[in-house]
Amino acid sequence: MLLDVITIFPEYLRALDVSLLGKARERGLLQVRVHDLRDWATGPHRSVDDTPYGGGPGMVMRPEPWAAALAAVLATGGLAGPGAAPAAREPGANPRLVVPTPSGKLFTQQTAAELAAEPWLVFACGRYEGIDARLVEVAAESLRVDELSIGDYVLAGGEAATLVIVEAVTRLLPGVVGNAVSVTDDSFAAGGMVGLLEGPVYTRPPEWAGRSVPAVLRAGDHAAVARWRREQALRRTAARRPDLIAQLDSGALSDRDRAALAGSDQPG
Ligand code: ADE
Repeated sequence: MLLDVITIFPEYLRALDVSLLGKARERGLLQVRVHDLRDWATGPHRSVDDTPYGGGPGMVMRPEPWAAALAAVLATGGLAGPGAAPAAREPGANPRLVVPTPSGKLFTQQTAAELAAEPWLVFACGRYEGIDARLVEVAAESLRVDELSIGDYVLAGGEAATLVIVEAVTRLLPGVVGNAVSVTDDSFAAGGMVGLLEGPVYTRPPEWAGRSVPAVLRAGDHAAVARWRREQALRRTAARRPDLIAQLDSGALSDRDRAALAGSDQPG
């Protein structure tokens, strides 16, 4: 997968050099290019923003530097060197443009899975009050554009949201996470316990601070472990995210599931 990120704070994206993502890049699973929007700013001050029409606080990013930056990135045709993803090399292949914004559609695990199937993503990190709305309108004439919010709070810019989205997407790429099963069992993952939060997890030592690891996890009965984990997931989800329980397909709940949700112990 090829990722292009356009920002006025390229150094903010240094986080992409470390950890899983850094390793995925070293192994050629992922290529990342970070671009400084100011390289496409003109005028004596190379300014990228201006006051909003209609008044109001803050500044709005001007469309011209963005359009020039996008044109330059698109002109690469997704060619990012010898390891470029084949689909991104096809003539005419266009990237999907992601614009993080608090007024976007909510980014979910499902969006992450959708984006993970793309060979080439471009992120446009807005700052201030956002980017002049005409930029997305024009971009959408030739590209698929997703304006995405990572949650109901306001960040100072799209960079942190881009890091969140990139991490959620790239860990779904084959070979990025060492243990592929751990990806499918996560909270919210499609597979494993769909739509439930993951329950508590434990490792050695078996006794610590006067507390024991639950005996069922140490007894080697895999079916009992799976049942216990599902019950824990159901209870935790009911306590912390009742909205997710309300979305569950009630036909998919067993009697045992219902008993866990009711907080009662299952006989046997
Ligand atoms: N930019 C500022 N706040 C944001 C949010 N919640 N999600 C995505 N991008 C943002």
